Amino acid sequence: MIITRIISIYFSPNGTTKKIVTKTAKGIGNSEIQEIDLNTIESRKVERNFSKDELVIVGFPVYSGRLPKLSEEIFKNIKGNNTPAIAIVSYGNREYGDALLELKDNLIKSGMKVISGAAVVAEHCYNKNVATNRPDEKDDLKILDYANRVNDKIKNIITIEKLPVLYIKGHSPYRPLKSNQIPTGDKKCIECGICKESCPVNAIDEINFRLTDSDICIGCGRCINVCPTNARAIRNEGFIQFMKKLEDIAKERKEIEVFI
Ligand SMILES: Cc1cc2nc3c(=O)[nH]c(=O)nc-3n(C[C@H](O)[C@H](O)[C@H](O)COP(=O)(O)O)c2cc1C
Ligand code: SF4
Ligand code: SF4
Repeated sequence: MIITRIISIYFSPNGTTKKIVTKTAKGIGNSEIQEIDLNTIESRKVERNFSKDELVIVGFPVYSGRLPKLSEEIFKNIKGNNTPAIAIVSYGNREYGDALLELKDNLIKSGMKVISGAAVVAEHCYNKNVATNRPDEKDDLKILDYANRVNDKIKNIITIEKLPVLYIKGHSPYRPLKSNQIPTGDKKCIECGICKESCPVNAIDEINFRLTDSDICIGCGRCINVCPTNARAIRNEGFIQFMKKLEDIAKERKEIEVFI
């Protein structure tokens, strides 16, 4: 089949999912590439329709072996018409659990034909000592090889409607969603407002930037990573201990896992 346009769609608060999706799209190449960044509330509200001759590459980070909670609102606005789709999750070298399967299932419900899926390791957004600087050059080569294999598959598809359902590792019913940790600011805050501007769900108080609305925050870690004075952090002792343990649990290098 011939693809006229590639569309990269990602929710990527800390930028690694974006990197992976973008690299995959460039690797597949050949067609015009459009990017849809779902990091803002406005962008997630737009209804988007895709046709059969477009290729959609959709990327999410893994949160506790699942997709982020707000993926539900995203899928309501993504509509395919037997559109070929690639499902991609990024995770911090621990495990991706049921997230890739959940992404595949949701893309199918949105009218897509999932032709392939990949789980790719990325630097952990809560601890830079875990999977540091990944995806790295070795990952880039593997992503490129993956993109070439997807390209070959696309060339051999004659009737997209007849494509069998792709196997993706994971369990359904999926593991339960976990409630997330909530970062707050401390006295190091210089009131620059960068965290407030960067929060993808507008969870930070507009007057006192140290405060976070725990009903809205999805615990994505972006405000912690953009704060110039390291004022924002998750202060729960159990979480701090787990982050230390994670350096050991996720020490062994995992590689990209693909389903094609
Ligand atoms: C709330 C939360 C839960 C996470 N859970 C997992 C997990 O279960 N397994 C894992 O390997 N990484 C986990 N991570 C790490 C992220 O999946 C990883 O850093 C991802 O690449 C972040 O994507 P982004 O850079 O696009 O924001 C978690 C991160 C957050 C914020
Ligand atoms: S980014 Fe840091 S310093 Fe700036 S307002 Fe937020 S908590 Fe304060
Ligand atoms: S307040 Fe919560 S949702 Fe907003 S950037 Fe920080 S961790 Fe992410």
